[in-house]
Amino acid sequence: MELKKEFLYEGKAKKIYRTSDPDQYLVEYKDDATAFDGLKKGTICRKGEINNTLSALLFKKLASEGIPTHFIKQISPREMLVKAVKIIPIEVIARNIVAGSLADRVGLPEGTKLKKTILEFCYKSDELHDPMINRYHIAALELATEEQLKKIEDYAWKINSILTDLFKQVNIALVDFKLEFGLHHGEVILADEISPDTCRFWDITSGEKLDKDRFRRDLGGVEDAYEEVLSRVQKILK
Ligand code: TMP
Ligand code: ASP
Repeated sequence: MELKKEFLYEGKAKKIYRTSDPDQYLVEYKDDATAFDGLKKGTICRKGEINNTLSALLFKKLASEGIPTHFIKQISPREMLVKAVKIIPIEVIARNIVAGSLADRVGLPEGTKLKKTILEFCYKSDELHDPMINRYHIAALELATEEQLKKIEDYAWKINSILTDLFKQVNIALVDFKLEFGLHHGEVILADEISPDTCRFWDITSGEKLDKDRFRRDLGGVEDAYEEVLSRVQKILK
C-alpha cells in the first residue's frame, strides 16, 4: 500500500498523518519532550524510536491477550501505522504505587504500595490542564456512554494485570500509567502509546526511576533510562 502522508495533527510527542487508506493513520513519534503542560520543553535523544518500538511490542502483546488496540504495524524506527480512531477525551490513569500527583493529593510518600489499584479519569483538555473527573462528569459531559466506560474500565484493569506481570519479569515495577482509548467503527479500542513518557517504571532492586520523571525532575540519565526499559522488554518480547 502506498503511504501517501497528509499532515493531520501535531501533539506534544507525536505527529499524525492521514494515509491513502481513510481507515489508517500514520503516527510519527518525536524526540520532543514536554512537562507541566508544555512549560518545560526539551529533547530526549532517540525517544521517538524507543517509544515507537516499545509501544509496538506492548500493543502486540496486549492484542495477543485479547485487548483490541489501534496498532497495525511498525513501518520505520519512529513510525507506526494505526487504525484511524476518534480519541475519547478521557485519560485513564492506573496506580499501583503512590507517586507523582497522587502523593500530593493524598499526603502519602512516593513509594507507598497501594492495597488496591486506583483508577482515575482526567478530562483530556490542555487548556483546562487535564482536570480529574469522575463517572458523573463523564456522563454529564457525554464524553463516553455507560457501555463505553464499562469497556474502558474492563480493559484498563486487564492491561494493568498483563503489564504489571510483564514488567515484573524484567525487574521493573509498573508504578502507574496513563491510557487513552479511541472509537473505531463504534468500538472502543486502546490508542495513543505506552512508553516511559506515559508510565512510571522503577527498577525493583534499586528503586531507580526509568521513566520521564528523570526529565520532569532533572535527574539526568534520561536517554539511558529509556534505552534500558526497551532493551529489557526486548529480551522477553519480539
Ligand atoms: P501524575 O502522577 O503526574 O498524575 O501522572 C500519572 C501517570 O500519568 C504517570 O505514569 C505519567 C502519566 N502522565 C501522562 O502520560 N501524561 C501527562 O500529561 C501526565 C501529567 C501524566
Ligand atoms: N505531557 C505533559 C505535558 O507536557 C506532561 C507530563 O507528561 O508530565 O504537559
